[in-house]
Amino acid sequence: MNSENIHSDADQPCSNAPEEGAERPGHFAAMQENLRSPEDRIRMLEQKLVEQAEQLTASNLAVQQNIEALKKSKQRLREREARLNSIFNAASEGIIMIDRKGIVVTANAAVKAILGYAEEELIGGNISLLMAPDHAVKHDRYIQNHIDTGISKIIGSVREVEGLHKGGWTVPLDLSLAKFFIDGEIFFTGLLRDIRQRKLQEKENREHLEELAHVTRLSLMGEMASGIAHEVNQPLTAIVAYTEVCVSLLMSPNPDHVKLAGILAKTNQQALRAGQIIHRMRDFVRSKTTSRTSASINQVVKDCIGLCSTEIKLQNILFCLELAENLPLVYINEVQIEQVLLNLLRNAIDAMHDLPVDRPRRLVLCTQLDDRQHIEITVKDSGPGISDADRAKIMTPFYTTKKNGMGMGLSISRSLVEAHHGTIRFNSQDGNGCTFYVTLPPKELVNEF
Ligand SMILES: Nc1ncnc2c1ncn2[C@@H]1O[C@H](COP(=O)(O)OP(=O)(O)O)[C@@H](O)[C@H]1O
Ligand SMILES: [Mg+2]
Repeated sequence: MNSENIHSDADQPCSNAPEEGAERPGHFAAMQENLRSPEDRIRMLEQKLVEQAEQLTASNLAVQQNIEALKKSKQRLREREARLNSIFNAASEGIIMIDRKGIVVTANAAVKAILGYAEEELIGGNISLLMAPDHAVKHDRYIQNHIDTGISKIIGSVREVEGLHKGGWTVPLDLSLAKFFIDGEIFFTGLLRDIRQRKLQEKENREHLEELAHVTRLSLMGEMASGIAHEVNQPLTAIVAYTEVCVSLLMSPNPDHVKLAGILAKTNQQALRAGQIIHRMRDFVRSKTTSRTSASINQVVKDCIGLCSTEIKLQNILFCLELAENLPLVYINEVQIEQVLLNLLRNAIDAMHDLPVDRPRRLVLCTQLDDRQHIEITVKDSGPGISDADRAKIMTPFYTTKKNGMGMGLSISRSLVEAHHGTIRFNSQDGNGCTFYVTLPPKELVNEF
């Protein structure tokens, strides 16, 4: 008889009443049990007690082992938490966690270094405290939108934002966001990197580029001086002729006032034309160019042509302008982009200067949209082109094949175009002309860079 049987029978009261239907299993065993002597039963019970005590000792041991393991894993967790805490607080990036309502749950020590607020000043408050007012208003809506739609432009990417320092000034930051869940509740972790130093460096680079652009613009203006002088000279010559006519009309006994007024009006037009050319030149050589504005690229192209059209005519160049209609606006520093285009036009004119008389001199300027929907400006000439050996050199500073060239035109153009998030490249076969391509993003895409 095994201990199972002893156990089950000992727990059940013994009954002599016969069961209905089939005989109860174990009934026979119970009857046998009743027949045992009291000593046997005591021995059996003792045996059972010993076995249960052994089982208890074993499970006690297992519990103790479990407690030990739990203690160890708790210790490991504490160590891990301490390690993570030390990383959390030693990080030079600010780390802030917020809940679904934008309430700060935790912030590390770097947040104080960057934005002036200690952790205890932030916990429980809304994260919008750290944002410029116009952004703060929208922030709660951003979070809710993300929760509702699951769509976010910022999660998983780095974005430049402005943080608001406790002292009231703004701090440029790189912000990256991640989300996580605890018991189904959404939380967000923001990583803030102070980019003041980088911004300062960028500003210095921009200023440096602007100064360099100014120097090269002056030299470009020098290269174009003869054409421009000719351009200004034309209205001046006309004015001289008109005024001479006016004087002789006035000297006559009966001056024809109507005729006189007509000639004076023409004089006025010519004087305005000369003034416009000078005005455009002065704008072009300004040292500090105006900041970026929305502009129509076709208008910029037309302004450029105004500065070199005389040169084109003087050199008998067949000029063709193909401007696409309805191009999107660009967001540019107009003078700088004019400088890029003028250098390309100037280079093309120079390249065709020494062509044999029987070779056609063609200059084509086009604007259009490229396959990325960026604005593309092409300047195509029928000059000698660029040899394979020169290809790599022409964009490098101070490379020139001209007697009075400075060799800075293309290299500065590249820096200017790239500062506008654009590109510049060329295509040329030796002896077969050259085409330069400048692309600029449309205004609405500029914010994405
Ligand atoms: N359209 C072109 N056709 C042939 N060569 C060109 C053309 N554009 C530029 N180059 C070459 O590239 C050189 C560098 O041009 P750039 O940087 O504008 O300086 P610069 O005009 O002062 O020489 C030119 O001297 C010329 O050799
Ligand atoms: Mg040049």
